[in-house]
Amino acid sequence: MARINIADKRKVALVAGGAGFIGSHLCSELLTAGSRVICVDSYLTGSRANLGDLLEDPLFSAVEHDVCDELSFEERIDCVYNLACPASPPSYQADPIHTLMTSVTGTANLLRLAERDGAVFLQASTSEIYGDPEEHPQGEDYWGHVNCTGPRACYDEGKRAAETLCFDTLRAGNVDARVARIFNTYGPHMQPSDGRIISNFIVQALRNEPLTIYGSGLQTRSFCYVSDLVDGLLRLSQRQTNPLGPVNLGNPQEFTVVKLAEMVLSMVRTKSYVVHEALPEDDPQRRRPNIARARELLGWEPKVALEEGLSQTIEWFQGELASARLRRRPGSARPQAQVAALRQDY
Ligand SMILES: NC(=O)c1ccc[n+]([C@@H]2O[C@H](COP(=O)([O-])OP(=O)(O)OC[C@H]3O[C@@H](n4cnc5c(N)ncnc54)[C@H](O)[C@@H]3O)[C@@H](O)[C@H]2O)c1
Repeated sequence: MARINIADKRKVALVAGGAGFIGSHLCSELLTAGSRVICVDSYLTGSRANLGDLLEDPLFSAVEHDVCDELSFEERIDCVYNLACPASPPSYQADPIHTLMTSVTGTANLLRLAERDGAVFLQASTSEIYGDPEEHPQGEDYWGHVNCTGPRACYDEGKRAAETLCFDTLRAGNVDARVARIFNTYGPHMQPSDGRIISNFIVQALRNEPLTIYGSGLQTRSFCYVSDLVDGLLRLSQRQTNPLGPVNLGNPQEFTVVKLAEMVLSMVRTKSYVVHEALPEDDPQRRRPNIARARELLGWEPKVALEEGLSQTIEWFQGELASARLRRRPGSARPQAQVAALRQDY
């Protein structure tokens, strides 16, 4: 494990899972706010490409490490953000036992690090805690409706156990642990093929492939743009006092999957159309956060409307897909010009 020493009085943030979709945006915001940032990531689903220019910043370090293995740092850490865990169903189901252990052993290892330094600990939990909910919208007091033996359990139950670890450690007085229950979040740096609904639809539309809707498409989701989510995570970690309970972070505007597909089709120049496939096991029918706690305790409210966030995400995926096509054509003399030309193809 790398040992990093700098004589500096800045706040030091450790972001586990910092090379992932949300983690990379969080690292960037923390650096902008003047913190020194240590990203710890195994690159299971994240990438150095997500870190981009951050890798050039002297206040940033990236350490390749699996959080299931113990961590040791000489540097004193002020805040630990635990985002390490694959988040899309195909990636967390690829090695379900490792997913479960990432949430359990990984969270325990990171809590120990926070305890050593008296650091604030922020756990990225999830709306999957609520399973296929029987209460709508979902407030933090709802205990959830989760199948503990199904194919999603490695993620859902792992995250539930991680919350238990956080609250037991908090009650024992050992760590100032805080828990954000994140609802569907989207934006640049999502992986094109990781199986999440927004990235699926956008990539399918950009490739002129059919948009796959699982089931009738009348199931609902609420989509939060990544900048709003990161703002909520920062407010929760920086709040003076511990809220003593989980806090939902998500956008309460609810859309059917059919409506989302229509929006994507109307925003991308494409020949795509919708096809329906069977609903996967344990797929939740309704998802919508009750964010009254976040409003009251953090003064937080999502600001980015779905149309605006989709437009930024589509633009980002256009660039990604164009440069991937370019990479398949070595010897290109004018890559930038080709990127622009490919964008016009879509
Ligand atoms: N994106 C969402 O809609 C959403 C919703 C609810 C909760 N969350 C939670 O937020 C966090 C970040 O999600 P994301 O969407 O950015 O996912 P992501 O898959 O893009 O990021 C997860 C990061 O964790 C890293 N990682 C995974 N296992 C690891 C391990 N054992 N050791 C070290 N690093 C490991 C991955 O390489 C990746 O960089 C996750 O904990 C996820 O459960 C996300």
